[in-house]
Amino acid sequence: MKQFNTKILGTGSYMPDKILTNYDIAKRVDTSHEWIVERTGIHERRISDLSKDENPSGMAARATLKALEAANLTPNDIDCILLSSTMADQPMPNAASMLQFKLGITNNCPALDVNAACSGWMYLLPMADAMIKTGMYKHILVVGSEMLSSFNNWDDRNTCILFGDGCGVAILGRAAENEDSKIYSTVLSSDSSKKDHLALWAGGSNMKLTHELLDSKDQWMTMNGQEIFKAAVKTMAAHAEKVVKDAELTINDVDWFIPHQANLRIIEAVGQRFNFPTEKVVINVQKYANTSSATVPVALDEWIRAGKIKRGDNILLAAFGAGLTAGAVFLKY
Ligand code: ACO
Repeated sequence: MKQFNTKILGTGSYMPDKILTNYDIAKRVDTSHEWIVERTGIHERRISDLSKDENPSGMAARATLKALEAANLTPNDIDCILLSSTMADQPMPNAASMLQFKLGITNNCPALDVNAACSGWMYLLPMADAMIKTGMYKHILVVGSEMLSSFNNWDDRNTCILFGDGCGVAILGRAAENEDSKIYSTVLSSDSSKKDHLALWAGGSNMKLTHELLDSKDQWMTMNGQEIFKAAVKTMAAHAEKVVKDAELTINDVDWFIPHQANLRIIEAVGQRFNFPTEKVVINVQKYANTSSATVPVALDEWIRAGKIKRGDNILLAAFGAGLTAGAVFLKY
């Protein structure tokens, strides 16, 4: 059977206009701009406005139009939609179907949502790669679109400072025979022994939303920040090293490292673990905070559009999230 190499044909991102600064948050909870910057590196984040259709599928539609233009494709060229969202537009139907509708796609292509928290987009890349390689699909739209403001507890200073909204997408397709773009190697994992360290307990089948629950704090996300911090550094560093080794290359061959943007201290600690030069680490957490599975595709798109990432560059991607899920992908752009 003929095999194809996977190429990123185009990327796009969309961030809501509304900016929420640390100073704004400090008006509501007992915190300060200085504390947030020192502990996380975050200065501000974007917040969706539903009246502008800035829900996961709405943001994804705008980001996809940019990616289609970059790839020189039209919406009906997309033959599969894979969408990661921690909290999609609504429980049913899925956001990928909503996105198909908003893009005006009429070819009835499959449309699937995946929830692996902040690792969701990373989880989708190996799946898309396998489907491109085997020739199953030609143009796969891979989306990370998140509206964390919809389930952020704005009265909990431990968590509310960390998150923001936004969307990043990539269209994956076949590299031509004379091109060397490819996905070298991937690794995915989930350590469920740590599943309770970051959780949203209510709103699913286990705990339906009731009047009593809505009045109590039990409806909100809970997080053991320090445990997540430690696990994130260890797992992202190990996964990043593994994919580079599996590609039979070395850290010196990596042109850009794009880690999940959760906390600047986590990013720096991962880089130090495998002696990675800081100038090659992509960082935008200060502007957008943690947009969950959107952080990596948004950063990828920004660095490509700024002309920093160029064709032929070797790019190392890594993420972690609730689960605790994690993954890394090493590719030639
Ligand atoms: N402002 C001021 N003080 C605060 C704040 C705040 N916003 N939040 C916590 N504090 C206080 C705490 O109450 C504590 O006070 P105490 O010593 O009197 O008890 C003190 O600051 C220190 O708290 P720590 O939790 O030790 O602070 P730490 O340095 O660990 O930073 C943080 C906390 C930023 C949450 C860090 O642990 C972290 O980033 N962890 C990773 C979280 C993460 O990445 N989550 C997303 C996962 S991805 C996904 O799937 C969504």
